[in-house]
Amino acid sequence: MADGFETRAIHDGQPPDPASGAVVTPITLSSTFVHEEVGKHAGYEYSRSGNPTRRAYEECLASLEGALDGFAFASGMAAEDAVLRLLAPGQRVVIPDDAYGGTFRLVSKVLAPAGIEWTVADLTDLDALARDWPDGTALVWVETPTNPMLNIADIPAIADVAHQAGALLVVDNTFASPYLQQPIPLGADVVVHSTTKYVGGHSDVVGGAVVVRNLELAEKVGYHQNAMGAVAGPFDAFLTHRGLKTLGVRMDRHCDNAERIVEFLDGDPRVTEVIYPGLAAHPGHEVAARQMKRFGGMISFRVAGGLEQALAVCERAEVFTLGESLGGVESLIEHPGKMTHASVAGTDLEVPDDLIRLSVGIETVDDLVADLDRSLG
Ligand SMILES: Cc1ncc(COP(=O)(O)O)c(C=O)c1O
Repeated sequence: MADGFETRAIHDGQPPDPASGAVVTPITLSSTFVHEEVGKHAGYEYSRSGNPTRRAYEECLASLEGALDGFAFASGMAAEDAVLRLLAPGQRVVIPDDAYGGTFRLVSKVLAPAGIEWTVADLTDLDALARDWPDGTALVWVETPTNPMLNIADIPAIADVAHQAGALLVVDNTFASPYLQQPIPLGADVVVHSTTKYVGGHSDVVGGAVVVRNLELAEKVGYHQNAMGAVAGPFDAFLTHRGLKTLGVRMDRHCDNAERIVEFLDGDPRVTEVIYPGLAAHPGHEVAARQMKRFGGMISFRVAGGLEQALAVCERAEVFTLGESLGGVESLIEHPGKMTHASVAGTDLEVPDDLIRLSVGIETVDDLVADLDRSLG
């Protein structure tokens, strides 16, 4: 059986439609499905519980992640919520010290009042984590690379620490995408995605996904998906699945362009630091090289001139669009401190105010370099 990544992206979960012969999985908008007799149906009853368009996409994503099963949600946050609510009141989640701001907000402002305990930890220092293992930890949440500092966590090593203590390891794989990194074969139990980003890839659909290692977790997450109901609608599932089919070619171009831009920024006197896991000087470089195929399309950098200059660079850019989000075909520039990460100001997760984040798109790279050169002033 053919099992290359790009082959699976285009074929797994999506045989031609048996009813019509359609090569592309049809968008099934029906909310309900016929029962031939009571208790007998073709596999679908009601579209919150299961929908053929969504299912095709879920099976394809699970295959690409090396997972047993997958579940599509209305947004990345809905996917995160479905996973974090595996915790019972009194149980603890450890989150990284530069977690995505929305993850921090969900844990600290929504789940904590419902009785979930939480601890922020530096997940690049595993000796400290194992030594000071917080009581009652049932779940370790990892992002790698992190948003926006692009720190790298060692997935197999954290899986060992978490599993020895009887905790689950969840990896937010949004920044890498399954093309560059597959956390489940590396030891994680659950992977979450904001599919709004690289998986969808075209900035035209908000979505989230969860894929899981085993049947027990599949049953639990599937139960939450249906019980809580924040499912991906059929059209959203179709669009995201369409994006997934070209993930491999897009990611290679994102990586090619990012490498060229890093080369340009690194050593430029207007730039004080370039943060990219592909740089040998990046503290997580060796781990990233072990667990990622390439180093991704996200770059963060700090500028000489502080906050004022960082804001000016963002506002002068023309080919790079000033905007939140990431992972689409178009290049985006943003100021995390004032935009995506404004909600963590004043906490342990606060980011430097001279920091700029780039989501490098797949445009002509010379145009991207020229735009940054001009914007740096
Ligand atoms: C790493 C990461 N995880 C999760 C999310 C949340 O996803 P969504 O915006 O699709 O709800 C984001 C959004 O930016 C993200 O960057």
